[in-house]
Amino acid sequence: MATYETIKQKLETNKQEQLLHFYEQLNEEEQRDLLNQIEQIDFDQLETANQKDEENARITALPSHTTEMFSPEELTKMREHGCSLIADGKVAIVLLAGGQGTRLGHDGPKGTVNMDGSPETSLFALQAKRIQALQHEMNTTLPWYIMTSPINDDATKAFFHDNQYFGLNRDQVTFFQQEVSPALTPDGKVMLADKATVFQAPNGNGGVFVSMQKAGILAKLQSTNIKWIFFNNIDNALVQVADPLFIGYADQQGADISSKSVKKAEPGEKVGVLGQRNGKPSVIEYSELTEEQRQQPELQDANIGIHLFKVDFLEQTANRVLPYHFAHKKIATIDEQGVAVHPAEPNGYKLEKFYFDVFPYASKMSIFQVDRANEFLPVKNKTGKDSLEEAKERFN
Ligand code: UTP
Repeated sequence: MATYETIKQKLETNKQEQLLHFYEQLNEEEQRDLLNQIEQIDFDQLETANQKDEENARITALPSHTTEMFSPEELTKMREHGCSLIADGKVAIVLLAGGQGTRLGHDGPKGTVNMDGSPETSLFALQAKRIQALQHEMNTTLPWYIMTSPINDDATKAFFHDNQYFGLNRDQVTFFQQEVSPALTPDGKVMLADKATVFQAPNGNGGVFVSMQKAGILAKLQSTNIKWIFFNNIDNALVQVADPLFIGYADQQGADISSKSVKKAEPGEKVGVLGQRNGKPSVIEYSELTEEQRQQPELQDANIGIHLFKVDFLEQTANRVLPYHFAHKKIATIDEQGVAVHPAEPNGYKLEKFYFDVFPYASKMSIFQVDRANEFLPVKNKTGKDSLEEAKERFN
């Protein structure tokens, strides 16, 4: 239990005394609560956020495969191999659903948005149904791990409960929560949401590995001889969850990670591409590429957030501390007088970890390029590009 003195000391050491600015105005319970919140903050980790992304990195391509590179017989064999891995219980699924979905602006978890007014066409249901179809075909059960965050955990669980898990067995679905991280002012001060509360938001999808480890999931997967984790986002309305062809491909390639990609719609599309940074597998952000590199035919594999990770690889890398990235955002906070501030412009930085920061630790990554029209329909915004409006048109 944190005492006022130890916390004050900790804040002085880290030049973050502003967090106790309103302490004397709080009641006893609020004071205790605030001290506990501050105790949870790992200030050493925040230091990593201040390090600049590596400049002048050497960017090179990673070769990718398309289905055209394989004969029909090879593809059939590949799919059958994937099916047998699923049937033998070698595959589990991890869904990232802890995000805030700020761009979509939907009231509730992103997975609850639907295509035609019914929960049966929600993003969660679409994925559940794919799992159900595979289970039916393979006569097996696929364990499904769903990552939520403190902001949407209750609502997500309630949605599954109210909809009878969309026909899945309640026991095959496990929810686990990611952690939160604070936000910083431009001069590096941790922000308060109100006098008694440190501003906290989900710590980015890169929180997934540590959270899986802390929840005992990685150990469980290892002890039950699961070899592959199919890993995907909540917001792709066309994702082929646990695609047997992709699983067969990954197992034949034998890399620590296999990733699906789609060809960039045009060289200037603002997406991260799969490639190598200084000889290591990586997602390379649009902003990191020169105009020439954006045009390069070998650097056209857009990352679509669909991956297969070897369980052994994740078990070995889960303890690695991934860096925080800055996201310049509007953060509801208080001013020095304690008055609420709802900024019209970004006023601080949320700190987020990205799951693909584990990629460089993989000895090898293979890429399977698939057809965008069949497999990628991201629901990021309400209208326009990558939107719910667009997805609804496709579905109705
Ligand atoms: P996005 O980067 O699109 O973030 O997430 P988001 O929170 O859904 O939406 P915006 O950016 O606020 O509009 C890609 C995937 O990573 C998950 C999301 O749920 C989505 O499946 N994610 C993101 C998490 O699980 N946790 C996070 O902290 C952030």
